[in-house]
Amino acid sequence: SDIEKGTYPHYMLKEIDEQPSVVRKIIQAYENEQGELAIDPAIAEALHEADRLYIIAAGTSYHAGLVGKEYFEKIARIPVEVHISSEFGYNMPLLSEKPLFIFITQSGETADSRQVLVKIKELGYPTLTITNVPGSTLSREADYTMLLHAGPEIAVASTKAYVAQVAVLAIAAYVEAKSQRIEVNFDLKKELAIVANAIQSIVDSKEVFEIASKDYLSTTRNAFFIGRNIDYCVSVEGALKLKEISYIQAEGFAGGELKHGTIALIEEGTPVIALVTQKSVSLNIRGNVKEVTARGANPCIISMEGMEQDGDAIVLPQVHPLLTPLMSVVPLQLISYYAALYRGCDVDKPRNLAKSVTVE
Ligand code: AGP
Repeated sequence: SDIEKGTYPHYMLKEIDEQPSVVRKIIQAYENEQGELAIDPAIAEALHEADRLYIIAAGTSYHAGLVGKEYFEKIARIPVEVHISSEFGYNMPLLSEKPLFIFITQSGETADSRQVLVKIKELGYPTLTITNVPGSTLSREADYTMLLHAGPEIAVASTKAYVAQVAVLAIAAYVEAKSQRIEVNFDLKKELAIVANAIQSIVDSKEVFEIASKDYLSTTRNAFFIGRNIDYCVSVEGALKLKEISYIQAEGFAGGELKHGTIALIEEGTPVIALVTQKSVSLNIRGNVKEVTARGANPCIISMEGMEQDGDAIVLPQVHPLLTPLMSVVPLQLISYYAALYRGCDVDKPRNLAKSVTVE
């Protein structure tokens, strides 16, 4: 069944492997009879009515929200703010006239997010929950729900739910853009199918990531993840994954921000994992890699076909530039997994953490 480990040593590895099929399942789940991507008309209407979206989430779901902002703004041209739920509760920004609140939560039970939902309902604003668990608290209490169709996620470290969240956000933005007759110059269904194949090829070559993990992370005290643009959104997720399961101190940074402080932390051998999937900023991020390398860092460049260079540690298959987060997160999940293994950590149940945080 879905919640058996089968031959897998850990749920996390099983759930990483399920990601290609999760993407395919989502394509099917959000297809109408004509085979076109579609969402519940009531949700389409709510998106259409809104003058601004407020995405509220915690942890990995917040990181998916950062990518979601890119989608709604770039594809559907709706302004978006992304907020950490525990902060939003007591520090509410000035709201627009017609906000739509979108709660992203794998479990649908996160107390920090729920307290925001309760407040927003009191204020009378429309709410949408994007969750993996039908019938969960945040699903029941919101006006609308979009499901992730990722199947049960057991490992504390979220993997397939993140990929599902990003895919569902892309679909929502795309369908909304189409319904507004905003020109979209790609076929999302086709591009998501390409992503599913790309993820498949990554999970089929685990040795590559096992070796990279050993090379870069087996003995280090700390690690940095850098990226620009949408790669930055993924770098913070990569850092969280590594922290929570391997206990290595890790941070994700926007490449250009290094020189404003963080670069002081770079020492001989400090691993710096750089994502290079965005052509528009690839020269800039490669420049940042040179800066840290000159100060002794051990750079691990993860690039994409079409913009690879000699010396890149990993070259990922080519996917649509907006959809790279769905794919580029997977090597980060895998290197975190192997780092946790080498260090003898409890991969599926890291210390001090619960799968869903039901206290504020
Ligand atoms: C992710 O690996 C974490 N374990 C954690 O950050 C999680 O994403 C967060 O607690 C939010 O949970 P939710 O999606 O169930 O609301």
